[in-house]
Parts: sequence; structure tokens; C-alpha cells
Amino acid sequence: MSPELIAKATEARKMALAPYSGFTVGAAMATPDGRIYTGCNIENASYGLSICAERVALWKALSEGAREFRAMVIVTDAEKLTTPCGACRQLLWEYCGDILIHLHSLKGADEEYRLADLFPVPFDSGSL
Ligand code: THU
Repeated sequence: MSPELIAKATEARKMALAPYSGFTVGAAMATPDGRIYTGCNIENASYGLSICAERVALWKALSEGAREFRAMVIVTDAEKLTTPCGACRQLLWEYCGDILIHLHSLKGADEEYRLADLFPVPFDSGSL
């Protein structure tokens, strides 16, 4: 994975608003033509309104016209690597397809998956 995409997700994580969980996440997604969109998690006192870093990055990208994606990096400082939650997997699958998902911990761990491996047997437009 490109050091630049990891660096962008690491920077984005610094903007996280996570006063309730104390768990800060950064995400960065890359398009095939080299654009990068970042996000951090943003929590709310009405907990269910909180949003994951991955979705912030995805909404930013889609709202700015991006339609094709190559990879997403997710950065935390947790010992155990953070994978996207179920809701984010569903949304990433719908809008990005089988992208690379690169997990990175500031404690040193790294792993890479295809989204199709994290989200097998999806419900999607082909199911309707
Ligand atoms: N969170 C993310 O932003 N991305 C993930 O992949 C997992 C969880 C956030 C949501 C919430 O603000 C905090 O981490 C704890 O769940």
C-alpha cells in the first residue's frame, strides 16, 4: 500500500471527534486516477447518529463526483487491527465494489484484504 495513503489516513484520524468511545479512526480512499478522499469518525451524544471514518470518506468522495475506487486505508492505534463495521462493508460494496482494504495500526501491524473476502455473499443490486 502506498505510504501516502497511509499517511493521509493517519492525518485524518487526528480530526476524529470521539469523546464517547475514545476510539479514533482515520480512513483514506484512493481512486484509480490518483485522487484521495479522507475521513475520521464523528460521534454524537445521541450515539446512534455517530458515523464511522470509512463512511465519512466515502460520502465525501461520492459527493465530489468520484465513482471509481481502488483502495481504502483504515488507521487506528489499537493493538488489534480495525476492520470496517458491517454497515460500512455494505456501503463500500455498493459504491466501490471489490476494492483493497488495507488495515494499519500505529502500533505497527498491517494487513490487506479484498472487500469481497470481508463481505462474502452480499445483498446488493444483483439480489433484487
Ligand atoms: N469506528 C470507525 O470509525 N470505523 C470502524 O471501522 C470501526 C468503528 C468508530 C465508530 C465509533 O465512533 C468508534 O469507532 C467506536 O466504535
